Amino acid sequence: VPRHGSPLTPAELIDLYAPASRAAQWLRVNFIQSIDGSSSVGGLSGALGGPADKAVFDILRGVADVVLAGAGTVRSEGYGALTVDGRLVEWRRRAGLPDHPVMAIVSRRLDLDPASALFTEAPTRPLVFTTSNAPSGARRELAEVATVIDAGAEEVEPRHVLAELERRGLPQVLCEGGPTLFGLLIAADAVDELCLTTAPLLEGGAGARIAAPRGEMAAPQEMELVSLLRSGAMLLARYARPAS
Ligand SMILES: NC(=O)c1ccc[n+]([C@@H]2O[C@H](COP(=O)([O-])OP(=O)(O)OC[C@H]3O[C@@H](n4cnc5c(N)ncnc54)[C@H](OP(=O)(O)O)[C@@H]3O)[C@@H](O)[C@H]2O)c1
Repeated sequence: VPRHGSPLTPAELIDLYAPASRAAQWLRVNFIQSIDGSSSVGGLSGALGGPADKAVFDILRGVADVVLAGAGTVRSEGYGALTVDGRLVEWRRRAGLPDHPVMAIVSRRLDLDPASALFTEAPTRPLVFTTSNAPSGARRELAEVATVIDAGAEEVEPRHVLAELERRGLPQVLCEGGPTLFGLLIAADAVDELCLTTAPLLEGGAGARIAAPRGEMAAPQEMELVSLLRSGAMLLARYARPAS
């Protein structure tokens, strides 16, 4: 675990979160929660956040090849086009990456607006992972603005999603939730890393925790602490699957 007594510069913060290796596929998940374990306040995660969490949120996007999110998060958080700022564009160019990561959405019902900026202003055509049973009308409309990919019959299967991202040359995957998708990824034993911000707030119990339960769970997975930052009373931890 690195030790830092003094504030990190923006460049040091990027170095801390930059992938150690780009060769192998790596699924990193990013969440914020309250100290009593809630992933939202009034249905949104925004009230939990602050400048330090936002800085790390942006860096995690900036060093990823693809940002994966469930449709519930995309709808409730009102996702726009996925772009990263100039400093991260420079970092990406030095790393030989395209200026912006690709957006990928997981949805069964395809209740996504093809006229929204998420699609129409995207620098790279977004991917939509769905099932072969998805509504055909919505599929046709979304196919005008996104690449729609079947990744299961009844539900989207994480292994299909990850294999497809690998095939497309997008090994560094950042999942931004939400809890339903995170629960699915844990059950599939697919999570390599969790970046978890803990906000100094007692939410009171109305919000869901960061992972929704699934019927069939993988055995509890131990994780190692990679780094821990503090910004005021906010803690930003990074846990990874132990090297085998
Ligand atoms: N604290 C945080 O860091 C954080 C992060 C993200 C989200 N959130 C909060 O989480 C809440 C949303 O939670 P959520 O659990 O609904 O979000 P979610 O996991 O983003 O979305 C659930 C939706 O994703 C699709 N989906 C998930 N698994 C699927 C599968 N196996 N096959 C096909 N489709 C699948 C479905 O979309 P369709 O309905 O389109 O079929 C499902 O309704 C919001 O309040 C948001 O603010 C918090």
